[in-house]
Formats: sequence, structure tokens, C-alpha cells
Amino acid sequence: MSFSSAIYLLLLMFMCASSERVTNIVHMAPMPSVMEDKHTYHELLIRKASISAELLYSYKHAVEGFAARLTPDEVESLLLHPEVVAVVPEICYKLQTTRSPFFLGLDDQREYFTSNCSSSDDVIVGVIDTGVWPESESFNDKGFGPAPRSWKGECEEGTNFTASLCNQKLIGARYLYKGFEAENFPIDETQDFKSPRDSNGHGTHTSSTAAGTAVKEASFLGYAPGVASGMAPRARIAIYKACWYSGYCMGSDILAAMDKAIEDKVNVLSISLGLGMLKYDKDSIAIGALAAVERGIFVSASAGNDGPSKSSLVNVAPWITTVGAGTVDRDFPAMAILGNGRSFAGFSMLFKRRRSDLTINQVPLVYAPLGGNFSGKIVVVDMGRANLVVDTKSGALGIIYANTALDGIEVIARYDVLPSLAVDKQSGDEIRDYVLKESNPTAMITFEGTVINVKPSPVVAGFSSRGPNTITPEILKPDLIAPGVNIIAAWTGSGSNPDLFRPGFSIQSGTSMACPHLSGLAALLKAANPKWSPAALRSALMTTANGSGNDGKPILDSANRKPSTPFVHGAGHVSPVSALTPGLIYDLTTEDYLGFLCASDYTSSQIKIIARRDFTCDPKKDYRIADFNYPSFAVRIHNHSRGGDGAYRYTRIVTSVGGAGTYTVKVVSDKKAVNISVEPEVLEFKQVNENKSYTVTFTVNPSMPSGTNSFGGIEWSDGRHVVRSPVALSWPK
Ligand SMILES: *[C@@H]1O[C@H](CO)[C@@H](O)[C@H](O)[C@H]1NC(C)=O
Ligand SMILES: *[C@@H]1O[C@H](CO)[C@@H](O)[C@H](O)[C@H]1NC(C)=O
Ligand SMILES: *[C@@H]1O[C@H](CO)[C@@H](O)[C@H](O)[C@H]1NC(C)=O
Ligand SMILES: *[C@@H]1O[C@H](CO)[C@@H](O)[C@H](O)[C@H]1NC(C)=O
Ligand SMILES: *[C@@H]1O[C@H](CO)[C@@H](O)[C@H](O)[C@H]1NC(C)=O
Ligand SMILES: *[C@@H]1O[C@H](CO)[C@@H](O)[C@H](O)[C@H]1NC(C)=O
Ligand SMILES: *[C@@H]1O[C@H](CO)[C@@H](O)[C@H](O)[C@H]1NC(C)=O
Repeated sequence: MSFSSAIYLLLLMFMCASSERVTNIVHMAPMPSVMEDKHTYHELLIRKASISAELLYSYKHAVEGFAARLTPDEVESLLLHPEVVAVVPEICYKLQTTRSPFFLGLDDQREYFTSNCSSSDDVIVGVIDTGVWPESESFNDKGFGPAPRSWKGECEEGTNFTASLCNQKLIGARYLYKGFEAENFPIDETQDFKSPRDSNGHGTHTSSTAAGTAVKEASFLGYAPGVASGMAPRARIAIYKACWYSGYCMGSDILAAMDKAIEDKVNVLSISLGLGMLKYDKDSIAIGALAAVERGIFVSASAGNDGPSKSSLVNVAPWITTVGAGTVDRDFPAMAILGNGRSFAGFSMLFKRRRSDLTINQVPLVYAPLGGNFSGKIVVVDMGRANLVVDTKSGALGIIYANTALDGIEVIARYDVLPSLAVDKQSGDEIRDYVLKESNPTAMITFEGTVINVKPSPVVAGFSSRGPNTITPEILKPDLIAPGVNIIAAWTGSGSNPDLFRPGFSIQSGTSMACPHLSGLAALLKAANPKWSPAALRSALMTTANGSGNDGKPILDSANRKPSTPFVHGAGHVSPVSALTPGLIYDLTTEDYLGFLCASDYTSSQIKIIARRDFTCDPKKDYRIADFNYPSFAVRIHNHSRGGDGAYRYTRIVTSVGGAGTYTVKVVSDKKAVNISVEPEVLEFKQVNENKSYTVTFTVNPSMPSGTNSFGGIEWSDGRHVVRSPVALSWPK
């Protein structure tokens, strides 16, 4: 086990420490129609089972059941009651940012936002995260009218948070803490606020990325001026704080947040957290998300930051839109030049420096772990231990953050209280070697400010989690990628300690940042097409995603600088303008999701947990995941002798949202591995919303070496629209 995962596990055990009583989610059979109130239904069961459990939450929408602190004996006695379907200990989830919350920056994201969004006034984006800093300019409601009439939410009061802090932009704010307090300890009010107020920064960042008001001059001290704008600057924001200063969030609180968000009638739910690839009946986010999707709420979630390891995804349920992270075409180059003349390129966010003052001249260089007097020196800090703070009091002039084996391949511009430069591991090793061996080591740092139009971009972030999907190998995940490296957005704004100075904007990296980009774009699409289902919205975003970078070549994977694959980037990089006119969509209904569970061989009680209803798979029906109407294709080659001809058949139904048109198909594949044929090859639509089906046959080469992957695409076009689906095939090991 690596050092970082050991620490991570330790933290997890600490944050999710279990006493004798642990929080369980009790899943129940649907409430009998003679009863009217879920709370009564839940309390009745607790009374019948004669348990003294503290009921944390009675859920109304997100699950059929409740959360309670239970001993193992109490779990046993609950399970004796026929209305109890399952009792599942809650899971501790974590935020999906890669680095500590000390980055900061500036710039302009408008390149990702080009659309008329006047009608998005009526779209509400719910964000489940660490809360919000309501005073941020990103939540300014100038020019907004009253909240949409459908809105049922509230602005809850608490520590340093009054109801008057919500406005016509930030229309709701709630906080859910019972699960966290029951499992850990009371919220530490010296660090956090027992209210919707954010003390971590993550929630302020994600919510302003999704739907923050455009803020001019988000720039910092003369560095690259620009506008920080959410993806859907006219949409409304509702915050559900279920995660805390530490970055951890309990499953029971997340479910409570989803329960409220459904009741409050948000249109989009943005969830930048997750944990592991979990079976759908064990994953609170997946269960709550299906309830939301059934009510027409689009749910996007981060894909995870555990790349470049294979099968490192989180949030893979096929009703969730799973978002990986790519770079934007902007960098903050800087360079360190050592006394021996060697120079190393890196990245930097400058603090309190002007463009006219962009160099630290040759000064003594020291290595932080060795301690000593940093005054007047440049200090080398291992990125993996970057919480080893070199502060202004030390008198240091600058910092070189050098990646270690723990940091992965990404070099992330780090904002700090001192001018700093981040370099990769290879450069870091050479610099460390120099500073340790040289008797009078020196260095200088030059900063080049902000550079845009960096090519190629996007590049998939090395940390972005990858497939294959091990829960359902026939569903390709992630679905797509969105900007998630060095993203500027609002941050908490308190504090007078200069070393904790938080000037209101911050640069962050992670799939946590990619997810709210997609959420905001989905809000724009929803505004343009209010009747579209969550699956239709996702289909439009996926089938129009771009597989090429700004150099016209296939998107690269930062992990190896080679073209990335659909296991890494899904359908490609989100391309919002083309998503407005997708031509065709692949739609899905609740029945389809339940059929998917039947096809996945979930038992009736597992289905009851996920679907919150009695649902029996029809024994006469041939449920096949291959026919589940997903906008992408993943084929797991199993036993070649089965099915006879080595052919895999997938059926799809497309709906013409772009009106009449004649679509012809084009396939791309490696013919050595697979031949792809489509029947029919032409689809003629006479009018809008017509459905047509087609069948794809993958004829695979049975003698490919085991463990081979092969990729391709299926593309329908009527000359105006291009409707592209990625294809990924994998041969067994
Ligand atoms: C966008 O706004 C412009 C100017 O108000 C208008 O002419 C145009 O039709 C709008 N486009 C859409 C797609 O609503
Ligand atoms: C909370 O609000 C009170 C009253 O406005 C203020 O005195 C206090 O400094 C605030 N606490 C923090 C941590 O911002
Ligand atoms: C560190 O060195 C600087 C000048 O080189 C000096 O002014 C300062 O007093 C020293 N600090 C300590 C703690 O020795
Ligand atoms: C994909 O991006 C490239 C580079 O920005 C652009 O030239 C191309 O038109 C895009 N393709 C689509 C389908 O949007
Ligand atoms: C493949 O199918 C054959 C014949 O049905 C069977 O004997 C063999 O065990 C199968 N292999 C695997 C790996 O499932
Ligand atoms: C695909 O078709 C070509 C031409 O008919 C043939 O040479 C090739 O072997 C086929 N590949 C597979 C995997 O069946
Ligand atoms: C097309 O299919 C969708 C579901 O896939 C269904 O809801 C819709 O009613 C169908 N439309 C027509 C015109 O049959």
C-alpha cells in the first residue's frame, strides 16, 4: 500500500469510525396505500421491532426507508419484519478534488459558454457539497426575478447564516449533518459552520462553476484579467451542504440532501463526490439518483480522481452522467533556473506579484524537509507533503513544489501565499539532487503569466478515473469529459491570517470541477428543451462530444501522452453548442432502467431497494443490457463458443429531435479485431420525435490476444447533424 493510500485509509477510519451503533439505511417495502405519512410508517416499524434507535432521517423520495443508528442486534430484529427489504450500513463518501484547498487564480472560461440563456432563469441547479459562501459576487442576483414558481425549497438558518443571505440567484440553502455528527463528533465550530455556509471552499467553487453569475475582473492583482462565469449564469442555485470541512460526507446525509432536492424541485443535481465502484443497491448516490432521474432531474457526478489506474471509476450507474476531467487551453508557465545553469519548466499561480515584477533572481536554495532558516531563500517542497507549510513568516522568497511518486503525472499550478512554481517528478528529482549535493545551491524563478491557446487541449487529466466499468462492463463509463484542471471559480472569503488568506476566487483541479461544468451545460440544454428527459439531455451531450483537440488530432491522455481511448474520455470532450442541436437522441425511461436491473441479474429485493417499489422481472421477457438504449457501446467478449458465430448484437432506438432527415451510418473499427455492421444503414425520419431502431452486429476476431481492447465509433449523419457513439471492445484476460 502506498503512503498516500495508507493515510487516506487512516483518515477514512477516523472520519467514519464505527462505534457499536452505526448508521444504517433501512430499506423498506413500498408504504401501503392506506398509510399517508412516511414518517409514521417508519416509526411504526421501529416501535414494532421494539428498538430504541434514534431515527436520523425519514426519507420521502430518495429511498423508501429511513436512516437510524442501530446495533447489530437491532439490525437482526428489524430484518425479521417482512416490510424490511434490507439494512445497509451507510458509506462515507469523499470529495473529488486532487489537492488541498490553497490554490487561487483567475481567468476566463467563456470559451465553454456560448449560448442564449435567457430562459435558463427557470432552471434550478442543486449542488450537494460543502455549502456556499453567499457573499461571493458569483451569487449576485442583480437582474434576476423571483424564483421559479415550481420552487419548494428553503434557505435554512444556522451559524453565520441567516435566511436573508439567499437571494434570487442563490434561491435555497440547506444543511444535513445528523449522519456526520452521529458517526463522528459534533461539527467542530472552530473549523466549520453548522449551517449552509462553506468553510472548505469546494462547494462554493463547484456551485459557482455550474451556475455562478459572471464576475468581471475576477483577475488578481493585475494578472491576466478576465471574467469568471458559471456555465449557466442565468440559472438558479440551490445548495445542499452534506459534506464538511474535512472533505467527507456520510451516505445518510447525502440521501437526505437528495431527498430534499427532489422535494424542492431542482432540475439538475450536481454531485462532485463518490467512493469506489459500488453495486447499485449498495450505493446511496446511485439509489437517490434514480429517484431523482425518475422525476426528470438530470444527475451528473464526478468520475473520480484515481487515474491513471484502470477501472478506478466511481458513480457508474447508467442513470447518472459520469464526468471525467480534461485540461483547458490555458497554462501558467514558469521556469526555475538552478545555479548550475539547468532549467526546468513548470507552472505557477502568482500571488501579490505584478507582471512587471516577475522574476526572483538567483538566491540560495534549500530543501524544506531539512528545515533551517528559509529567510531570503527559495524553498523546495515535495508536492506530496505540500501541507508542510512554508509561510510568509519564514521570510522565504519563493517555493518550488516538486512532484513525488505520490503525486501522479499532473503538474498542477499551485496557488500559495508565496510565489511558487510546480514541476513534475523528473524535474523535481533533479532539483532535489542538486540541492542536496551542491554546497551552495541557488536558483531563480521566472514567471510568464497566463498563456492561452495552449495546444493540444483538451488533454485528459492523468488523475481522471478510467474504465473499464467493472460493475456493468457493457456500459461504457465515463460518459464524457469536461474541463477539470486549473479551474477558476469562487471560494470562501474569510480570514485575516495572511497565510489563510482567501480572496474569493480559487484555482482547483479534479473531476469535482468537471462535474459542475457538465451540470451547468445540462441546465442550459434543459432551458432550451424543457421536455427532454435526463437521458435525452445526456444523449445530446454525449453524441455531440468532440474526440479531437484544438490541434485537430485525437484527444491525448496526459498519463502517457498517447491518444486517449473511450475508457478514458467516454464519448469525448463536451461540446455545448453542438449539443443544442443533436439531431437524434437515445432516450430512456424508468421502465428501461428497471429492465436494465433485470438484465443485470439483480434479485427482486435488490431491485426493490433501488427502485423503491415492487417490480417483478417478466420471466417471459428477454432482458438484455445489449439492448439498453445507451448512447455508447461497450462489448465484453466472453466465451467465443457461445452464440455460435462470434457475433454480438446490440439494438438501439433513436428519436429525431431535429425533425425530418435521412441519416446514413458510418462505422470506424479496427478490422483485424472486429467488423461492425449496422442494419439498416439508412434511417429516414419524416417528422420530429419519430423513433427508429437499428441493430449493430459486432463480429469479433476470437483469436485476439487475451486482454486486448479495441475501439471505434458509430456515426449517424444527415449532413447537418453528426450523432456519434463511441465503441469499446474488450477481450477477456
Ligand atoms: C439569441 O439572441 C439573439 C438576440 O437576442 C436572437 O436574435 C437569437 O434568435 C437568439 N437565439 C436563440 C437560439 O434563442
Ligand atoms: C460569524 O459571525 C459572527 C457575527 O457576525 C462573527 O463575529 C464571526 O467572526 C463569524 N465567524 C466566522 C468564522 O466568520
Ligand atoms: C534567518 O536569516 C536572516 C537573514 O539571513 C536573519 O535576518 C534572521 O534573523 C534569521 N532567522 C533565524 C531564526 O535565524
Ligand atoms: C472538435 O474540435 C475541433 C478543434 O477545436 C474543431 O475543429 C472541430 O470542429 C470540433 N468538432 C466538432 C464536431 O465540434
Ligand atoms: C466456454 O464455453 C464452453 C462450451 O460452452 C465451456 O466448456 C467453457 O467452460 C466456457 N469457458 C468459459 C471461460 O466460460
Ligand atoms: C472483417 O472483414 C474483412 C473483409 O471481409 C476480413 O478480412 C476480416 O477478417 C474480418 N475481420 C473479422 C474480425 O472478422
Ligand atoms: C419514442 O420512444 C420513446 C421511448 O423510447 C417513447 O417515450 C415515445 O413515445 C416514442 N415516440 C413515438 C412517437 O412513438
